Amino acid sequence: MSARLDYRILPGGGLAGEIVVPGDKSVSHRALMLGAIAEGETRAENFLASKDCLATLDAMAAMGVAIRRPSPTRVVIQGAGLHGLRAPAGMLDLGNSGTSMRLLAGLLAGQSFTSRLTGDESLRRRPMSRVTEPLTEMGARIETRPGGLAPLIIHGGSTLHGIRYTLPVASAQVKSCLLLAGLYAEGETEIREPAPTRDHTERMLRAMGAELRQDETTVAVPGGARLTGTALQVPGDISSAAFFLVGASMLPGSELRLTQVGVNPTRTGVIKILQRMGANIELSNLHEQGGEPVADLCVRGGELHGIHIPPELVPLAIDEFPAVFIAAACARGETRLEGARELRVKESDRIQVMAEGLQALGVEASPTEDGIVIQGGGLRGGQVDTQGDHRIAMAFAMAGLRATGPVEVRDCANVETSFPSFVELATAAGLPLTARWGEQAPGQA
Ligand code: S3P
Repeated sequence: MSARLDYRILPGGGLAGEIVVPGDKSVSHRALMLGAIAEGETRAENFLASKDCLATLDAMAAMGVAIRRPSPTRVVIQGAGLHGLRAPAGMLDLGNSGTSMRLLAGLLAGQSFTSRLTGDESLRRRPMSRVTEPLTEMGARIETRPGGLAPLIIHGGSTLHGIRYTLPVASAQVKSCLLLAGLYAEGETEIREPAPTRDHTERMLRAMGAELRQDETTVAVPGGARLTGTALQVPGDISSAAFFLVGASMLPGSELRLTQVGVNPTRTGVIKILQRMGANIELSNLHEQGGEPVADLCVRGGELHGIHIPPELVPLAIDEFPAVFIAAACARGETRLEGARELRVKESDRIQVMAEGLQALGVEASPTEDGIVIQGGGLRGGQVDTQGDHRIAMAFAMAGLRATGPVEVRDCANVETSFPSFVELATAAGLPLTARWGEQAPGQA
């Protein structure tokens, strides 16, 4: 028997007050990786001390990078320079973190030493050929398990050359992987995206002195670009804020302020989707912080209505769909999503697992190959299985606000991967949530 963390949410809660969500996961990963290969010191304030980011931190430390943490949310990285990483003694275990594995694959493809990357069961099921194929085209030598799955063995001593590559799917992880490999390549590496995706890597590379060539669909990095360590202020994670935006906007009477949230336009799809559904979300105090736009968000509860989600917003809200589906279930009318096949290869198959969870709460939710159709109208109490997916756990926790009976959300321990203080912040804001460790029978996910 092993332990399983469950949430129980009682009906009748509200959300009010002011909260500060923790630092952005994507930016925190990049601060560690780019800081490690820069020259000089990089200081990151408001670093996200979550399991995923700590997996990246441990990997960089295992390659000889000196990283201090004067406090849990402050990291100081002594840059080793572009060619200063050392061979790790063993496998690099990246846990649940797709960002760690895909970005590191790029960073490690051009090193003189061989490295081995592995992760948990979920990460070992996720597609890695999307990074290994273009890296191989650049000259890297990478072994995978059949089907392009991790563990990955990245052989050292390969000479990389720049390529021109059009991403087959909109993915910031693949784009960032190739930008990092491009730093080690001869010539220029040019990446074309089918749709805009988060651009934190590009912004941070620039802040560290790299000269990128960029237009609306293309970004190119010159081989050998030298990076200089810098001071970074990590914005609040809009993907964490999203659960609160959904919770407060679908509950009449709620009023919540979320301060210092990152509002990079490549991440604000969730705000636009909720606003189209009738949500009352206002941005104020908009300013730039370490090259990233940041704002305070004020959200007031009301009645939402179903919409057809515009496909161009999908990559800009890719991690927020579990939360958006809860808003859809509580809205009036039908919500329809298409063009989101990527959701099937996240930490879980988010289309299937969300559909099953919604159905367990009495919602008519019909998964399609690349999306879902949800009939709004409200939820009842019941039991939901997250399949160990952190965002599904937090989304269903918010569903408890509008359910007519208690909601039990099973298998929530992985919330630690992105938002370790979720329970604390949610209960402080008024969500009647209790978390309890229980026993799990062998073989039960
Ligand atoms: C991320 C990019 C997204 C997102 C992930 C973090 C990143 O993945 O889902 O949680 O930090 O670059 P894809 O780029 O594969 O869509």
